[in-house]
Amino acid sequence: MSTKVIQSVRGMNDLLPGTVERWHIVESAVRKVTELYGYREIRVPLIERTELFKRSIGDTTDIVEKEMYTFQDNNGESLTLRPEATASCVRAGIEHSLFYNQRMRLWYMGPMFRYERPQKGRYRQFHQFGVEAFGWTGPDVDTEIILLAKTLWELLGIANNTRLQINTLGTPESRAKYRTDLIEYFEKCKNSLDADSQRRLYTNPLRILDTKNPDMQEIVQSSPVMTDYLSKDSREHFDLLCTTLSELGVEFEINPRLVRGLDYYTGTVFEWLTDLLGAQNAICAGGRYDELVESLGGQQVAGAGFASGVERLVELLNLESDNAPESATDIYVAVLGDEAEKAAFSVSEQLRSAGIRVVMNCGGGKLSRQLRHSDQSNAKLAIIIGESEVASGTVTLKYLRENRSQETIDAGKIIDAVRKALK
Ligand code: HAM
Repeated sequence: MSTKVIQSVRGMNDLLPGTVERWHIVESAVRKVTELYGYREIRVPLIERTELFKRSIGDTTDIVEKEMYTFQDNNGESLTLRPEATASCVRAGIEHSLFYNQRMRLWYMGPMFRYERPQKGRYRQFHQFGVEAFGWTGPDVDTEIILLAKTLWELLGIANNTRLQINTLGTPESRAKYRTDLIEYFEKCKNSLDADSQRRLYTNPLRILDTKNPDMQEIVQSSPVMTDYLSKDSREHFDLLCTTLSELGVEFEINPRLVRGLDYYTGTVFEWLTDLLGAQNAICAGGRYDELVESLGGQQVAGAGFASGVERLVELLNLESDNAPESATDIYVAVLGDEAEKAAFSVSEQLRSAGIRVVMNCGGGKLSRQLRHSDQSNAKLAIIIGESEVASGTVTLKYLRENRSQETIDAGKIIDAVRKALK
């Protein structure tokens, strides 16, 4: 049998103790903000039928063309690890009639999978927090989800390092006209297009606008802009969104070349960016998808939402302060000898049922060694139980962070004594 060490899969990270505490901060802020705005949690499977993502995200997108973890199960059915969760929310909503005669505000959080080239801030297993609002057609709900994101940045203390860009992609009809004109424009400078853009020219020309290639910027900057193709309704929707955001003091920039890497968007799209994370600068992205529910076989139900990369939020928190919150316990129980073990278990359980955090020494060892462990555990107090304590029905209370002499406490009065000492 091989004894070679097995390593984790490239782009898929372990979250170790010491790191995971920062994740807890983000996760509890997410729970708080979604509760404040009346969004309800939905949990969808990690695996869906491949068809779901092809039909929603789009056949010619990068995600579907080259980033999906797709495999056949034992039945020969094509399944895919979810690269995002909007499609799954829509599928679940249709399947369980969540949209039938009602509107829905949903949120989710969990791992997503994309076979991208891993780099700082970009992983193959990453985590998203997202919201999806179903059943509202107006710009009020666009404003609401933007405000929800802003509140999250404020709760996390990262608001100063975020900026918002918005755009509108109009209706599918106006986008079709825009697409034709874009193709015509890019055809004229076909020889100057890079390989990626040449590939996208006829399949997904809007994505050329999103290129990061510096040599392409001039061509992109002079291309037609979507804003000139908007229908009256789309323009009014977008204008109202902009006015409301301004009135509410939400700063934003209109970026007419902001397009998204997923095909289901209609109308408003937006991204929250940061200047602190280098190339992977989008911490949150989303928009409206008013035709997605219908295109997946449901009724005509409007939708709007966003997803935010949790790794990137955690990284921003790391930049705010070096000191990761340390996990701590209240009490470390040192146990000296077999006789004392039963008493130590009993005292530890009593304290825990009173809500006090207790780590009990396991594996024996000399007192000096056990006290070293107690120090590493960040406990405030140590309780020492040895043969003499068992014989006298007492415990010894030692202050680990204060210059106070240790005390002998009656075992029956331990909870009160500990509570007083922890104050
Ligand atoms: P997306 O732009 O593909 O949109 O992803 C949203 C966010 O997820 C990104 O802005 C980024 O923060 C994070 N993210 C994406 N890929 C990675 C990666 N490989 N590693 C780390 N973080 C990543 C969507 O997924 C849509 N479902 C958003 C949405 C929801 N639109 C409407 N509702």
